[in-house]
Amino acid sequence: MSRVLAFGTSMNSRSINRKLASYAASLVADTHVEPLTPADFPLPVYSQDLERESGIPQAAHDFLAAIANADALVISFAEHNGSYTAAFKNLFDWASRAERKVFQNKPVLLLSTSPGGGGGKTVLAQASAMMPHFDGVVVGALSIPRAGQNLDTETGRVVDEALHNQLLALAKTLAESLK
Ligand SMILES: Cc1cc2nc3c(=O)[nH]c(=O)nc-3n(C[C@H](O)[C@H](O)[C@H](O)COP(=O)(O)O)c2cc1C
Repeated sequence: MSRVLAFGTSMNSRSINRKLASYAASLVADTHVEPLTPADFPLPVYSQDLERESGIPQAAHDFLAAIANADALVISFAEHNGSYTAAFKNLFDWASRAERKVFQNKPVLLLSTSPGGGGGKTVLAQASAMMPHFDGVVVGALSIPRAGQNLDTETGRVVDEALHNQLLALAKTLAESLK
């Protein structure tokens, strides 16, 4: 059985991106899903002074180890002011100081959702462009706009049929990359 890390980039305990990441990972056949968020890796705000004085905190190493232990990643990005959440960017920055190849050649499915019509597509585009520079092997990307309509916001299930079919196809591609 493969291990798929379902990472939502939001600190919000009710996060729709956390739920979407877990739902999408559950569509990948024959997998164990491990849900994680930046809240699982508490870190101070990155500064080079802090790094010089105290080194890289264990939580950044723990994040890299969680990626190393996974066979594939599903990451769903919350969009804050057209960009990453501060918590994700901070975790990413710390991790990149320990290991530049943050995503360690793992296959990665990138998602985003938001209540608005943009569906987080701006942050999704940023993530898609960034991933190859940090050894993430992007198998696909999908943004789900208007979460209130297109998503069951309790379970993360995509209820719009056309979008659900797109997600299923991407989950299949991710599963094939694990063979
Ligand atoms: C500080 C802040 C900035 C936001 N900026 C955007 C934005 O640029 N684009 C967008 O679609 N939604 C934006 N939103 C709304 C989020 O998409 C919404 O809160 C969504 O639920 C975040 O995902 P999450 O539930 O996974 O945390 C913003 C929300 C916050 C709190």
